[in-house]
Amino acid sequence: MKEKLMMTFLAAVLCMTAAARPAPEKGADGKKILVAYFSWSGNTQHVAEHIASLTGGTLFRIEPEKPYPAEYRPCTEVAKAEKEADARPAIAREVEDWEQYDTVFIGCPVWWWTAPMIINTFAESYDFKGKTVIPFCTYASTYRDETLARIVELTPEAAHLKGFGAVDRNTDGIEEWLKEIGMTE
Ligand SMILES: Cc1cc2nc3c(=O)[nH]c(=O)nc-3n(C[C@H](O)[C@H](O)[C@H](O)COP(=O)(O)O)c2cc1C
Repeated sequence: MKEKLMMTFLAAVLCMTAAARPAPEKGADGKKILVAYFSWSGNTQHVAEHIASLTGGTLFRIEPEKPYPAEYRPCTEVAKAEKEADARPAIAREVEDWEQYDTVFIGCPVWWWTAPMIINTFAESYDFKGKTVIPFCTYASTYRDETLARIVELTPEAAHLKGFGAVDRNTDGIEEWLKEIGMTE
């Protein structure tokens, strides 16, 4: 009787612990997924949210400690200066419990023909050994492939799956892509 009570108590404690800290969502193959993205004007955020809703991934916004100018022209100037200086703009927040993720989507807009420099900061801030990285980007018209390739180049320790580029916030083709790379059923 005493033993039974103890077992019931232990089971209740285990349930409460699990409830207090929900496990991150898992994708089709049971992997824990992070969808990390940088977005200045909202397009990449829109695409990231779509990916997260289809895969059950956890969203992480890569936010600069010092915000970029809100106006387009000044923003392009800051972005250009950062690129020319090979800068590493500081990121405001850290991913919690990085170890729990197996798969990390990394998304950004194309800025000056490549990934914004803050993606370098992100890639250099975490250990990608044993992770699978899936790049995605949004762009107006050019340098999609170069930007996806840059994200791969910045995470050499990771395995990689085929990436995706969206024009602005057009999400056509995302569902097919996620199926093709085995991230959804
Ligand atoms: C600084 C800057 C540089 C850009 N450079 C390019 C580029 O080289 N090629 C391109 O197709 N679009 C370029 N764009 C357009 C953005 O990639 C595009 O609008 C993107 O979807 C914006 O994503 P966001 O809303 O998540 O910031 C640039 C935009 C900015 C602000």
